[in-house]
Amino acid sequence: MELNNKSILITGGTGSLGRAITDHLIKTKKKLKKLIILSRDEQKQFLMSKIYSEEKYPFIRYFIGDVRDKDRLKRAFKNVDYVIHAAAMKHVPIAEYNPDECIKTNVNGAQNVISASLDSGVKKVIAISTDKACSPVNLYGATKLTSDKLFIAANNFKGRSSISFSVVRYGNVMGSKGSVIPFFMKMKKNGLIPITDPKMTRFNITLKESIEIIFYAIENSLGGELFVPKIPSYNIMELAEAIAPNIKKEIIGVRPGEKIHEEMISTSDSDFTYDIGKYYITLPNSKYIKPEIYSEKYNLKKVRKGFSYNSGENKDFLSVEELRDLIKSHV
Ligand SMILES: NC(=O)c1ccc[n+]([C@@H]2O[C@H](COP(=O)([O-])OP(=O)(O)OC[C@H]3O[C@@H](n4cnc5c(N)ncnc54)[C@H](OP(=O)(O)O)[C@@H]3O)[C@@H](O)[C@H]2O)c1
Repeated sequence: MELNNKSILITGGTGSLGRAITDHLIKTKKKLKKLIILSRDEQKQFLMSKIYSEEKYPFIRYFIGDVRDKDRLKRAFKNVDYVIHAAAMKHVPIAEYNPDECIKTNVNGAQNVISASLDSGVKKVIAISTDKACSPVNLYGATKLTSDKLFIAANNFKGRSSISFSVVRYGNVMGSKGSVIPFFMKMKKNGLIPITDPKMTRFNITLKESIEIIFYAIENSLGGELFVPKIPSYNIMELAEAIAPNIKKEIIGVRPGEKIHEEMISTSDSDFTYDIGKYYITLPNSKYIKPEIYSEKYNLKKVRKGFSYNSGENKDFLSVEELRDLIKSHV
């Protein structure tokens, strides 16, 4: 993709995704004008800048900022071409306990990213969503759904500006901070793995696959699309087996705000959802956007009526061996 001489800003740039994108851009030797890492905690930025230093990679900038602070975002977004909005509060129990904080970051933050992008001449914004935003049952998911709606609707009031806003939604990123795989690996040492429900399934995406779909969106999106990758699922018992064969398991019950199966596209979304090969896209149901613009761009194949993309009904399931291999190579 043509990123030559372009400036990219990642909100939440010090997180698992932001670091992986930074690493990818460096390894693929993209000749960026600037790569701006925006986040709050100076310590995380300091540690990241030890690995990806401004001296060695002169296009990198570390910018302290909070997505709750619109003025700071406006300053940071000046002369930026693409914004990848990854900053979020993402831990379900923490969001349940501190709902107003989660709303400030995930909803008000999204609104600020939109306003600052509109005011600063940004060309494209890609917001990162989650499977938990689909038919949400917890506050984290509900705030991410609200954020998704804000980004999609932003295309309606951009006026004559050529800016576009799109969303990329995916499920559990393999091995990301605080996720189930590192947790099970830690529990393995204690000889006991807690299982919420033996039927539980989750989608699985590698960081590499998540980066692929984000750059697909940067390159191809027209605005208003919600992109969903076709990815495999796993069953939680099989995951435990892959990490610690024959280990003792304790059934602890589903925790508040958890689903047995995750969903990325609900039946209600299916009327506006298309298969475009490697990905699904859900298009906006908006009278302000002409549907032809999408059919000219993508090879749109409408999904069947009543379709839903659910980790339990997924046709593609990872076996214990496949999980073991993936963990070896990706975690
Ligand atoms: N990991 C997954 O399994 C997964 C799955 C689906 C979707 N997602 C989505 O992917 C995105 C990135 O996730 P991740 O795994 O990279 O998360 P992460 O590792 O927890 O990183 C979050 C980043 O956001 C920053 N941040 C948090 N609050 C902020 C604020 N108010 N202003 C500015 N920066 C803020 C954090 O740095 P500071 O704390 O220093 O500010 C950090 O850089 C999130 O939007 C998440 O919802 C993740």
